[in-house]
Amino acid sequence: MNTEQLMQIALDLAGLHEVPGDSAIHHAGTEIERVLIGIDLRSPEIALAKAAGYDAVVAHHPVGVSTLNFHAVLGRHVDQMAAAGVPRDLARSIVAKVAEPRRVLDSMSNYDHDPSIARLLDMPYLNVHTPLDEVGRRRMATVAGEVGGDATVGDLITAFYDAFGEFRHAATRIEALVGALDRPLGRVVVSHGAGTNGGYAVAKAYFDHGVDAVVYIHCRPDDAERLRAEYGTTKTLVVTGHIASDSIGINPYIERLRSEGLEVVPVSGILAP
Ligand SMILES: [Fe+2]
Ligand SMILES: [Fe+2]
Repeated sequence: MNTEQLMQIALDLAGLHEVPGDSAIHHAGTEIERVLIGIDLRSPEIALAKAAGYDAVVAHHPVGVSTLNFHAVLGRHVDQMAAAGVPRDLARSIVAKVAEPRRVLDSMSNYDHDPSIARLLDMPYLNVHTPLDEVGRRRMATVAGEVGGDATVGDLITAFYDAFGEFRHAATRIEALVGALDRPLGRVVVSHGAGTNGGYAVAKAYFDHGVDAVVYIHCRPDDAERLRAEYGTTKTLVVTGHIASDSIGINPYIERLRSEGLEVVPVSGILAP
């Protein structure tokens, strides 16, 4: 297998037709049999992989040029919000306000640091971010959609634990940062697979347009506090846990690579299914 195929398999799993800005092949390679995969794999892990005889390193979080182009995938929030009933123009203006400062901040990074080490050691290196988060979003949205109309927030959390070993094996817990477990769940949206969480502004837009419960994989405490102050008695924000939720998108990919005959060793936070 080569690095192109490693990327294509992830795109196929996610139903994507092009490589999103936050994912890239940083050093191409062929004849790959042993893969080291992890959530954050950078220069030290590339050196470790070289010493341990791996043929490729697959990171989840953006590295290299994927950090520079990360802001582009935030646009995926617009489609998700529009699908949930937020007017597209409003969604666009909200996301633009988040994406532009992010672009400027990310442009400050030493983007070629890790790829340069991969080239030096001739270690095939790629990162696959949004495709695998999209796989995770769909899996979580399916479970959320199966929880009945008269369910409570607590029922949704129980359904997540029942469906995913990653949540049961995590050291973090699924929690409601806004709202309460005994509240009716109502209309729920899983907001994930769009670079990063949409913070206060995206959750607010969902709440203002008929969504009762937003699921994020993580949320900054100041965003949660603002949402709690405004919507604490009427709406719900469930936070499922960053690493557990990333693992839910990564594990089907690992399974698929293994079915292709590759040896795949997960490190850097990936929780067992
Ligand atoms: Fe992720
Ligand atoms: Fe992540």
